[in-house]
Amino acid sequence: MQFTVAIDGPAAAGKGTIGRALAARFGFAHLDTGLLYRAVGALGGDPVAAARGLRAADLQRDDLRSMAAGQAASRVAVIPEVRAALVDFQRRFARAEGGAVLDGRDIGTVICPEAEVKIYVTASAEVRAHRRWLEVGGDAARVLAEVIERDARDMGRAEAPLRPAVDAVVLDTSAMAIEAAVAAAVALVEARL
Ligand code: DC
Repeated sequence: MQFTVAIDGPAAAGKGTIGRALAARFGFAHLDTGLLYRAVGALGGDPVAAARGLRAADLQRDDLRSMAAGQAASRVAVIPEVRAALVDFQRRFARAEGGAVLDGRDIGTVICPEAEVKIYVTASAEVRAHRRWLEVGGDAARVLAEVIERDARDMGRAEAPLRPAVDAVVLDTSAMAIEAAVAAAVALVEARL
């Protein structure tokens, strides 16, 4: 069976948690596509060459979760040749036998426009910054500024900007417990299986 769940949305909206929960619940493979861009940013040097030569081991680095790695990822992600180099891997993953969940920024719009389920997970910048701050600590105002800066870059770029696909279901998690958000996503998948 091929079945693709596309989850898009801004940083710290809950995409990863929802994606992992759906994968566990339905036995789907899960790909956090942000990791690909984080790895390209962290490798340094020529980002296009890094994207073309990306290997599984590059995704295992411990430092990919940091705020700095997120900003570096967002910067290399504006480069069309970087995005192009990562398309085939993501599409193959999406059509793997047994079902797949991919989360990122352009999954429902560019990578998997035919996905069976598309969810756009969002929340206010303040709520998302607070969640990120609980994870990373430090200066809360700076975390908020970084979230806003990254949103603007991801939404404002010319190539594959972050936006909901026309047929995506929007899930605003600002005032939602994560369990409720997961339950809503599970219901969307069950309705299509
Ligand atoms: O989801 P994340 O925070 O790990 O993503 C890091 C950056 O990578 C994000 O700010 C923009 C970029 N990205 C992208 O352009 N397209 C994706 N499908 C996933 C991430």
